[in-house]
Amino acid sequence: MSTDDWKRQAAEQALSFVEDGMKLGLGTGSTAAKFVELLGARVRTGLKVICVPTSEATRIQAAALGIPLSTLDETPSLDLTVDGADELDEDLRLIKGGGGALLREKIVAVASERVVIIADNSKLVDVLGRFPLPLEVVPFGLRATEGLIGKLAADIGLEGDITLRRGTDGKPFLTDNGNHILDCAFGSIDDPEALEDALKLVPGVVESGLFLGIADVGIIAGPKGVEVLAGIEIDFEEDV
Ligand code: 5RP
Repeated sequence: MSTDDWKRQAAEQALSFVEDGMKLGLGTGSTAAKFVELLGARVRTGLKVICVPTSEATRIQAAALGIPLSTLDETPSLDLTVDGADELDEDLRLIKGGGGALLREKIVAVASERVVIIADNSKLVDVLGRFPLPLEVVPFGLRATEGLIGKLAADIGLEGDITLRRGTDGKPFLTDNGNHILDCAFGSIDDPEALEDALKLVPGVVESGLFLGIADVGIIAGPKGVEVLAGIEIDFEEDV
């Protein structure tokens, strides 16, 4: 089995959290895309859901599959969001934003009663930080913002390259919100909460890719099968 198969397995397991009539948040990335694909198949056989996508890419995929879509303005509270992650630890703390959708992903996740993270086992880490932390930043004052991030990170013992993400055309990557992404290679983040608090002090940082206290369940698939990390009680007997 390949990483792709494990992503699909995790996505399949997440479907057991979906119930008829639910309002769903749809994540972004290759793992979330597998969930959207499977959800589309269920919709075609009669499942009734209404979904808020976390990116333009996911909106386009879901629309093509005939999944009924809404916005957070029309549907401000959701029952469940299913999304991927770049890293997660045993406490369900995450790094997200590898796909550049972290701001919408966080807004949608926080608007959801339950958040299920799906991933292959390469994403599960003891300590967050192997994956450079993405930060969504406004283009104005980029150098000053970068400097302040570096200073505040150093104050809590974190150092490393801070890189402006670029697209395949070499131009600075633009998020769906017209912002840039700074990827911060700080290495092991022993105290993610302290880093999140520090980043909130930087005016040009719109949002960080640290998702702390947001995920309720992690579904991780790998060569040894599917592992479920749960911060809540779960019942896999629910009808899909
Ligand atoms: C996008 C994300 C994705 O969830 C994350 O990058 C994981 O993507 P993939 O499933 O392709 O590995 O946070 O902003």
